[in-house]
Amino acid sequence: MTRNLPFNTTELREKDNEHVIHPWGFLNSSDKQDTLLLADSESIYVRDTDGEQYIDGPGGMWCVQIGYGNEEMAQTIADQVRRMTYFSPFGKLSTPPHAELGAKIAELAPGDLNRVFFATGGSTAVDSAVRFAWFYFNVTGRPDKKAIISREGAYHGSTYLAASLCGKPRDTTHMDLMTNLVHHLPSPNPYRRPDGMSEAEFCTAKVKDLEDKILEIGPDRVACFIAEPILASGGVIIPPDGYHRKCLEVCRKHGVLYISDEVVTGFGRLGHMFASDDVFGVVPDIIICAKGLTSGYIPLGAFIASEKLYQDILDSDEKTAVFSNGFTYSGHPVACAAALKNIEIMERNDLCGHVRKITPHFQQRLRALGNHPMVGDVRGVGLMGCVECVSDRKTKEPFPWEMKVGATIDRKCQDKGLILRPMGHLCVFSPPLVIASGQVDQMFDIMSAAITETADELVRSGTWKG
Ligand SMILES: Cc1ncc(COP(=O)(O)O)c(C=O)c1O
Repeated sequence: MTRNLPFNTTELREKDNEHVIHPWGFLNSSDKQDTLLLADSESIYVRDTDGEQYIDGPGGMWCVQIGYGNEEMAQTIADQVRRMTYFSPFGKLSTPPHAELGAKIAELAPGDLNRVFFATGGSTAVDSAVRFAWFYFNVTGRPDKKAIISREGAYHGSTYLAASLCGKPRDTTHMDLMTNLVHHLPSPNPYRRPDGMSEAEFCTAKVKDLEDKILEIGPDRVACFIAEPILASGGVIIPPDGYHRKCLEVCRKHGVLYISDEVVTGFGRLGHMFASDDVFGVVPDIIICAKGLTSGYIPLGAFIASEKLYQDILDSDEKTAVFSNGFTYSGHPVACAAALKNIEIMERNDLCGHVRKITPHFQQRLRALGNHPMVGDVRGVGLMGCVECVSDRKTKEPFPWEMKVGATIDRKCQDKGLILRPMGHLCVFSPPLVIASGQVDQMFDIMSAAITETADELVRSGTWKG
């Protein structure tokens, strides 16, 4: 459905090309005309500056839970701007939304996770959580506990510390990262486990990787293990059954903090406000959230620490210790008001229940894409999914990254009214949680047609034997 919008696309593209440095952009690419300028939105749909409408496959970027253009949310944000636009959150200063949201998140979080620190997004929440773990060990007399264990394929953000925790291959190619304190375990991707190994054996092996690494570094030197419940930007990698629970046991055994990065999985993506306990049976020491916390209306992130950690700090002898970490916009009142309204809307409409109800259909349509000859693996949980394209289903050889097969599929989807998130030979998607069953069908019909067209084109051009 096309609509007339008052924008000059050519002029805007020119301004964008000439002046904007894009996050994760290929800066010296000659492909400058492709920039898609999105100007309008409603529910699960976005429109470009030419008025073309698309289903938003990636949900913005794993974050648009309640859908676009919610009037009640707009009103809440406007009201808060008028009433109390901003004030410093440092020390003993606060605002009503800041205090209310802290209490609400503590109520929703599992176990004794009860103490909330607000950041400005996911990366700054990850940084703050790790700094809090270091602070905790410094204050409680274990200053040597500094090492952080992460995993290959992980994505934890883009600030220096958070980026250093990431394990995606491209991250290190042209960028500098901190390497002395971060250790990466092999990815727990069951699709790429050794031939002949059962999923249960693979799980045991991946948990052993963690314990071996802790023992190699020395438990007295390891601060924390950080893990996304599902490695989202790494290609929706779903670790084998029981993996998180067993990793938590290993962490407990060796006095290592378990940090669950729920920036993607938090706030309904898997049908629960937090997935750590409800889906994976794990109550971590710290949970990190962002994105869906405000449904993407305003940037906000947070970490939630257990009451136990907080009490240990209170009980320590270090009575003047300052947690010297914080941002001008930590707990911004407008962002906190938006988050409170977002949670209220999610609860009132039982959005988590809707996700649980629609998930079987979404996942069944996703599995059906696995019948395409160029698709090696389809995987997903809740309302997140990934299609992995391979040139040989037997050897699981992926299409080379440079071929950008995912981008070709995405372009064909866009021609049919759907945006995906391509990553090399992968396409990932996580639509707004308000998506209805018929819209799920529309999404997967488009994807299926785009995959068929891409495969035909590759065979016709002689690039792939089929
Ligand atoms: C699991 C995870 N952690 C952290 C981040 C970083 O969040 P932000 O981009 O808001 O800084 C992301 C972003 O995609 C993420 O997926």
